[in-house]
Parts: sequence; C-alpha cells; structure tokens
Amino acid sequence: MGCNRALCILVLFVAFYLFGSLQALETITGTQFIADDENGSLVSSNGNFKLGFFSPGKSQARYVGIWFNKISEQTVVWVANRETPIRNSAGIFKIGGDGNLAVFCCNQSSPLWSTNVSVPAQTSAAKLLDSGNLVLVAKETIIWHSFDYPTDTVLPGMKFGWNRKTGLNHILTSWKSIDDPTPGEFSSGFNLHGIPQYFLYKNSVPHWRSGPWNGRNLNGLPDIGSHKDYFSDRIDLITITFVSNDNEVYIKSSPKKGSVFSRIVLESMGLLKRKIWHESQRWVRVQIVLHDLCDEYMRCGANAICNEDTLAHCACLPGFERLYPQDWYLKCQETRKEACGKGDGEGFVRLEGVKFPDARNATLYSNMSLEECERECLKSCNCTGYANVYVDEMGRGCIAWYSELRDMRRFKSGQDFYLRVNAVELALDAQKNARVHIIATKSTLVFIIVPLVETLLAALCFYHFWRRNEKRNKGQKQKQKQQLHQNKLVLDSARSLPPNSSGESGNTELTLFELSTVIAATDHFSSANKLGRGGFGPVYKVNSLHFLVERKNSLSLSSNLARDSRGSPDISKFRFGNSGEMVGLLCVQDNAKDRPSMSNVVFMLSNETVLPSPKKSSFPVRNSDLDSSIGTKRSNNEVTNTTFDGR
Ligand SMILES: *[C@@H]1O[C@H](CO)[C@@H](O)[C@H](O)[C@H]1NC(C)=O
Ligand SMILES: *[C@@H]1O[C@H](CO)[C@@H](O)[C@H](O)[C@H]1NC(C)=O
Ligand SMILES: *[C@@H]1O[C@H](CO)[C@@H](O)[C@H](O)[C@H]1NC(C)=O
Ligand SMILES: *[C@@H]1O[C@H](CO)[C@@H](O)[C@H](O)[C@H]1NC(C)=O
Ligand SMILES: *[C@@H]1O[C@H](CO)[C@@H](O)[C@H](O)[C@H]1NC(C)=O
Ligand SMILES: *[C@@H]1O[C@H](CO)[C@@H](O)[C@H](O)[C@H]1NC(C)=O
Repeated sequence: MGCNRALCILVLFVAFYLFGSLQALETITGTQFIADDENGSLVSSNGNFKLGFFSPGKSQARYVGIWFNKISEQTVVWVANRETPIRNSAGIFKIGGDGNLAVFCCNQSSPLWSTNVSVPAQTSAAKLLDSGNLVLVAKETIIWHSFDYPTDTVLPGMKFGWNRKTGLNHILTSWKSIDDPTPGEFSSGFNLHGIPQYFLYKNSVPHWRSGPWNGRNLNGLPDIGSHKDYFSDRIDLITITFVSNDNEVYIKSSPKKGSVFSRIVLESMGLLKRKIWHESQRWVRVQIVLHDLCDEYMRCGANAICNEDTLAHCACLPGFERLYPQDWYLKCQETRKEACGKGDGEGFVRLEGVKFPDARNATLYSNMSLEECERECLKSCNCTGYANVYVDEMGRGCIAWYSELRDMRRFKSGQDFYLRVNAVELALDAQKNARVHIIATKSTLVFIIVPLVETLLAALCFYHFWRRNEKRNKGQKQKQKQQLHQNKLVLDSARSLPPNSSGESGNTELTLFELSTVIAATDHFSSANKLGRGGFGPVYKVNSLHFLVERKNSLSLSSNLARDSRGSPDISKFRFGNSGEMVGLLCVQDNAKDRPSMSNVVFMLSNETVLPSPKKSSFPVRNSDLDSSIGTKRSNNEVTNTTFDGR
C-alpha cells in the first residue's frame, strides 16, 4: 500500500512537472479535480477527447461529459450526470471520499452522480484515454471505465455487447432531445435470447432488429449500397468485428486509419446512425437503420414477409393465408395445421434474399451443413425453417427456427431461408420452378414429385370414376369434355418424371388436372377429405363441384364405406352401384399386385368389362390428423418405388 501511494505521488509529480503548464488536466486524483470554469477539463494525451462541464443545445443546465476535442462542432459522446443536471456553475468532478469518481454540487456531501464501485485502495485516479474512454484506476487496475456505461454513442475501440461472466450488458439510450441528455424512449443493445441479435427498442418494445451475425455483417443490416448515400464509400474506413464466445458477445469497430473520427449514435428520434467526420467539417452519415418501412419490427405481423418493392409491402409466407382478407391489417394463419411439422409430403421452399426471422427462439448449429440442418429441422415438430448462416464458411453453420416466423423482409443483400411447408405449397413451388427441378438431384426429385404423383393419381382415379358415372348422361357429356379440355389440365412437373423400367414412360391417356383444381377439389388435401393411403400415395375424396361447376352432387366414396371394428373398410363387403366406384376401390387395395395398372384403369373405365372384386384396402380409414404423422418423406425410398410402375 505504502509503495503504491509512493508510486502514485511520483506519477502525480511527473504529471505536474510535464503538464503543469497546460491548463487541462490529464489525471483526476484526490487533490486534482475539475470545476465548472473555463480551465476545468481533462484531455486525452493525443488531444482527441476532452472531458468537462457543458450545456447541451439551448439548455442552461450543466453536465459532465466527454466530447471530440479536435472537432469544431461540439459532439458529446458520453455524459456522467445525465439524469441529475446542475442548475448553476458550482459543479465539481472529483474523486470522492470513497475513492469513486463523482459529480458534486453546491457543497453537498452526497454526489449527484458516482461511479459507485467498491474501490479496493485508498487512492484512485481517473484518466481519459486516447480512445475517449474514461478510466478509474486503483491498485494499477481499471476498476471502472466509461466504455462499460455508454450513453447514446459507441466509439471505435469500444467492445459493445455483453459480458457473460459479469452479466454486464451494454445498452445505448437516446437523449430525450438534443437539448436534454436525460434517457429518452429509445434504447438499443444485444438481445441474448437464442442467437445474439442487435435490437433497437422503443419504450422497451422491439422496434428494429439486426438479425444474427453472418460472418461479415449482421444479417439484417440494410444494404449500404442500396442507400446511394453520397458518402457510403467511407464505410470502408472502418472495420467491424463481431465476437461471440463463452465469455462475451460484442461488436467492435476500429478505424483502418488512425485519423478518422467516427461513432455510432442512437439519436433522440430513434435513428441509429454510423457517422464519420468529413474534411468538410461536418459529420456524414454512412449507415442508418430504420431507413424504410420494412425495417420496422414485425411490420407485417408473424409468418409474413415485408417487401418494399411491392405496393402492399406485406404478404403471408407460403403455407399461410390472410385470416381476415377484407381487413386492412395482415394476420397470417396456417392454411393447414398438422399435429406435427407440416404433414405428409412436407418439405422446404427456398426464399431468396431475406432478412432472417427473429432468432430469439432459434438454435445455432455452428458446424452443420445445409443438409444436416434440414435433417435436424425435420426431427422437431416445432421447427419452422432453417438457413445457412455464415457466408464465408463453405456452407458450414446453420440456424434452425423453432417458433412462428417474425419480422422477415426481403432485401438485396439478404440470404436464403428454407421455409418448412406442406405438400401443397411444395407442389406449387415445384410447379413454379419446374425447369429447375428437372436438373435436380434424384433425392430432390423424389420429394418434389411425391405430392404431385399422389395428387395426380388420386385425381385421376376419381376423375375416371366420375366420368364413368356420367356416361349415361350423354347430353351433358360433350359439354363437360370441352370444359375439361379448356382447362388444359397439365402438371408441368409430371413431365420431369423419369421413365420407368418397363419403358412405359408418359401415359398419354392421362388427363392431368391443374394443381389448383386438385387442391380445390380436395380442400387443400384436407385430412377430412383423406380416405387413406393407396398404392400411389394418399387417397382423397374429391368434390365434383370443383371439377365441373354444373355438377351438384359430390363424388364421395366415403359415404359408401362402412368400417369394420378396427376402422379399416372391408371392401369385399360392399355392393357396388357402378363399376366406377369399383375401380376406385381397386386402386387402393392392400396388395400392390392386386391393384390395376394405369392403363388397366383407363381400360376398365372406358369399357364395360367384368371387374374383379376388390380385396382389403391398404389403409384404415382415418380422419384424424394423427394420420399424417412425422413425415421424413425425402429421405425415404418408398416413393421411388411407386412412381408410375407399370404392372
Ligand atoms: C484559469 O487559469 C488561468 C491561468 O492559470 C487563471 O489565470 C484563471 O484565473 C483560471 N480561471 C479560473 C476561473 O479559475
Ligand atoms: C460552499 O462552502 C464554502 C465554504 O464552506 C462557501 O464559501 C461557498 O459559498 C459555498 N458554496 C455554495 C455554492 O454554497
Ligand atoms: C450505488 O449503488 C447502490 C447499490 O448498487 C445504490 O443503492 C445507490 O443508489 C448507488 N448510488 C449512486 C450514487 O448511484
Ligand atoms: C419464443 O417462444 C416463446 C415460448 O414459446 C414465446 O412466448 C415467444 O413469443 C417466442 N419468441 C419469438 C421471438 O418467437
Ligand atoms: C465440422 O464438421 C466437419 C465435417 O463433419 C469436420 O471435419 C470438422 O472437423 C468439424 N469442425 C469442427 C470445428 O467441429
Ligand atoms: C414444441 O413447442 C411446445 C410449446 O412451445 C413444447 O411444449 C414442445 O416441447 C416442443 N416440441 C419439440 C419437439 O420441440
């Protein structure tokens, strides 16, 4: 202790000797303090920063703050007593009796503001470092520094983030106004729930979100290039690094050249800006968040995506639809709710160029490939999507989301997101991108085709069944046929089916339905309309209304089905009114060998033949959602075996 004191005195002496002639102090000690007069200031050794009393804007109140010393426009970067202004010029900034740095006023014994840490020594000293960091030193260690208690500004060299060890989380709080440094309604900092993201809050409610770090940048930071800001190129003068490890999570900026003055400031109106001092003696903005409508947190609600380039801005994600289409506000609900995941034939559609959804309920798999990530996602019913996160890591590192998707937007520098969807959306997406799928790998092909094949064949069976039924009504037949042909019912992707082993590729007799027709007829493949599973995939009850508007009666097989005690219809028990229904049931027999081939189906339906009796169906009739249990169809070979296998 004695030694320390001696050292301190020596340092003081040297300081006095060297800088005594200067008006500004370099150190604050028990005997050296700053009073609110023209000489009262502390300057960093490089002269870049100055600490002293000031009055902001039009205000008369006095505050202790730090500002850039070499800049003509007074720019305050830190304020000590921001909540306890001094109304006269009797303020003093000094080391108090307890060793803390404190603001006193008016001969009062208790401070207006204090660093308020426990000081492990009787002597302590404060110094303003070249970075603009005010440090309190005792026993040669820094026991407090202003960089840990920022006000509205982040300076280069400052670690802005969260210390997992101490629990200290840096938060910027805007000034109330340019005349009042009192904490305003905006604040910002890292949110450490799930994957760290930078948040801007308005009255503690999320207002903007950065998205996770992607190795180069925060994923949702607005594209700098798209601002067309005159000084955007200056952003290159600053390097930004992000660190996330077991000890801390922080972001840090450092100028590439020492002479650049820059700062990140949360302004009183809630704008978070990066600014650089320009030779023309003014601050220029190089980056800003909340620069368009889509930046606003959850502008479009959950499970929606915001797009600045469209008139409406907001749209529901694939697999979701507007709950109240007539209302002005958007609320997206799932089109078909499954007990787990997205049901049979589910998969993922890629959304390009997006800001990742809120990752507070997401999980980072730092060494998973995209394929591994997809498998991981399919393991959980709750997983809603996944994405590759690091742009430079050769596809390693992914995030999976486990809750509703919030705050997505499109923008140019966004990344790809894989959204979990049901069979219908997958088929629609496949149809949209038919060309792409032809060159897809086999495994991809399988997962795209599954729903299509299922759809197609279910529809085919029932279409022919219906047509057969209609044969007697010859007057209407011609008209109906025309209508069906007008529909040009072709599924693009069906063409991409590989020719089967028997060489019987493409069944020219097939009348293909547009997917939308099939979707409508099966009420979005609703489980209520699902009869069970046949050799070709799930079999759905279709409503003829959707096939031909004039038709009033529904084509329902289920009405004829009785169930045995175990819930499986015993087909052989039924008596059939016409051969069409019979063919329909033949299509779903348990034993694949018993089922008619496609060409047989067509033959049976178009000719009066003696039909064999159907045997037991391959499915128990179930209407519950349990039917569509966890489906990992993509990795399943079963489907490959069922594609147009001629018998
Ligand atoms: C400021 O310092 C100068 C020179 O040391 C001194 O003459 C002057 O009185 C000081 N002003 C105040 C208000 O202490
Ligand atoms: C503070 O106290 C000193 C003497 O103790 C006195 O001269 C001075 O006027 C007081 N200042 C204020 C602002 O009360
Ligand atoms: C110092 O900290 C204590 C407890 O952390 C708190 O009760 C007290 O108000 C603080 N004092 C000042 C001057 O900030
Ligand atoms: C995260 O999950 C919890 C619990 O399910 C939920 O209350 C919260 O709203 C979710 N947050 C986000 C951002 O999805
Ligand atoms: C990441 O995964 C690859 C392949 O599985 C492996 O070779 C590598 O060692 C892993 N790296 C780490 C850091 O775990
Ligand atoms: C899915 O989420 C619910 C509620 O948020 C939770 O109770 C359940 O354990 C989760 N299931 C899985 C498989 O993560």
